[in-house]
Amino acid sequence: MTKLTKDFLWGGSIAAHQLEGAWQEDGKGPAIMDFATSGSVTTPREYTKTTEAGRHYPSHEGIDFYHRYKEDIKLFGEMGFKSLRISIDWSRIYPNGDDVEPNQAGIDFYQNVVNELLRYNIEPIITLYHFELPINLVTKYDSWKNCQVIDFYLKFVETMVNALKGKVKYWVTFNEMNHIDPQTEASDMFTYILSGLKYSELEGNKKEILAVIGYNMTLAGVRATKLIHQLDPTSHVGCVFGITPKYPVNCDPINVMNAFKDMDRDFYQIDAMCNGEFPKYKLREYADMDIDIGMTEEDKQAFAEGKLDYIGMNYYMTEVTRYEGGEIDEESLFGGVQNPYIEKSKWGWGIDPIGLRYLLNYTYRRYGLPIIICENGLGAYDEVGADGSVHDDYRIDYLQKHLSELKRAVEEDKVDCFGYLMWGPIDLVSATTGEMRKRYGFIYVNKHDDGTGDLARSPKDSFYWYKNLIETNGEEL
Ligand code: BG6
Repeated sequence: MTKLTKDFLWGGSIAAHQLEGAWQEDGKGPAIMDFATSGSVTTPREYTKTTEAGRHYPSHEGIDFYHRYKEDIKLFGEMGFKSLRISIDWSRIYPNGDDVEPNQAGIDFYQNVVNELLRYNIEPIITLYHFELPINLVTKYDSWKNCQVIDFYLKFVETMVNALKGKVKYWVTFNEMNHIDPQTEASDMFTYILSGLKYSELEGNKKEILAVIGYNMTLAGVRATKLIHQLDPTSHVGCVFGITPKYPVNCDPINVMNAFKDMDRDFYQIDAMCNGEFPKYKLREYADMDIDIGMTEEDKQAFAEGKLDYIGMNYYMTEVTRYEGGEIDEESLFGGVQNPYIEKSKWGWGIDPIGLRYLLNYTYRRYGLPIIICENGLGAYDEVGADGSVHDDYRIDYLQKHLSELKRAVEEDKVDCFGYLMWGPIDLVSATTGEMRKRYGFIYVNKHDDGTGDLARSPKDSFYWYKNLIETNGEEL
């Protein structure tokens, strides 16, 4: 029987802007998320472009990983992590994005982090873009609307691959660029966190701008893939997509069709990165909207030559597609309807372990490439006992159920899944709400939404559960 492989990559995923802090240290420049205030479920984050007195910007201190990474990696090592996915903050390396020379202190930091991981035999997986765009590339160049930004990105990629070559095997070109799509009524939030531009502030034809941004990022992705392969032929290059499978509300064919289209929208970039060409159906869609993304012969070649080695998937929830005449009492994160058959988290994210098995099957059958789950986890309120303990049985339950489904996808359905990276193995700042109290970690961090807390780290119950799971390679699920 097919089993999880002995070298299955058990581990976790983190992102620079959500935990490093030190936002102005050692030559780092300001990046887009440094201007995102904290928010909550009811008060959305604001994206201010300058820091304003009296407001709290959670990325500025994060959980101070910049100074505490050794302590944190030691804890990951204690859990037996086989892998950790980190992101490199572009603004530590090229503070303005368009600098001629890189900032050596930034390179040193990531070399030190990678060395520390290797000391514990933890395989580093490096994301080169996890919402950390130098703000100067937005204010001076208009972000990804401008193809020049692709060249700046490739220069940054080259610098980091050369700096980490021989130590890093797995690269990720982008995190969740699929949240930009001209077909949907886009939100300020995802437009901003991916490009530093607020949707409401886009001037001119908004749909066209989103199409161009999505296209340019996809092109940057395939060009980076080719470049990394050239710089290090032993490298494995992937891209990470955040997919929320969409279910129809019932078997009325029109609802099934709508759900199909709703879900399919998230796949055009994966098609472009795996099939050797930018999808024709997307170009026709753009033509119908009078959008010309200006694809050149050179671009076509880049798509042919920059194919992915593996696919990374972030999975948190499923949604039910909106339907005509339907009542919406509570909208889900991506505009869908809540599913009455499943529970939801305190933040309204539908908890659906079988959705993970569905997504793994769907993606594997469509592309036949190895897949790694790069994010999955439960954001929850944790209570700390008088003795410092956190009894997070709800988190264990969530992970246990999701991992059981992942195992079934591998063992029963024969999906080639080579790793599972839990999101936020240490408490960090939430990307969508900017909160600290939306906690994911196996490790509790004493830091609160008002900025107080001594940042002390302590293991929760789930820490020991995951450690045992890794030791037994998932046998006890
Ligand atoms: C993913 C992002 O979409 O979701 C992460 O890649 C993010 O950066 C994660 O943190 C969970 O979202 P949130 O808002 O709960 O932090």
